[in-house]
Amino acid sequence: MKKTVIALAAMAALALPAMAADGAAVYKAKCAMCHGADGSKVNAAMGIKPLSSAEVQKQSDAQLIEIVTKGKAKMPAYGSRMSADEIKAAVSFIRTLKK
Ligand code: HEC
Repeated sequence: MKKTVIALAAMAALALPAMAADGAAVYKAKCAMCHGADGSKVNAAMGIKPLSSAEVQKQSDAQLIEIVTKGKAKMPAYGSRMSADEIKAAVSFIRTLKK
């Protein structure tokens, strides 16, 4: 009985992280090619500024989620290509880039 409980607890602990979107993985797969692995890539012609910059970080999560969902200028819209969870996770990852 005790072993079953421990086994179930261990399974739940393993299953949880797999269910939530992994922001770092999403960012690496969908965003890093334009924004750089650490979000520091700058491309004046495209209008890309560092995601770590105050200008980006001062925007609310809702604003950043809207940009990623609907796109902005040359930034592609991801609303139809990523789940809301994945977009939220990617924005949470952008917060970790703040200097
Ligand atoms: C094809 C290249 C490309 C890809 C891929 C890309 N972006 Fe962008 N992103 C851009 C460009 C270009 C801009 C600048 C848009 C503008 O003119 O303001 C931008 C701007 C942004 C901004 C707003 C920054 C600001 O200026 O306020 C955020 C946030 C952002 N991107 C997040 C993401 C996330 C998250 C992903 C992955 C899901 C992603 N981007 C993927 C090109 C890209």
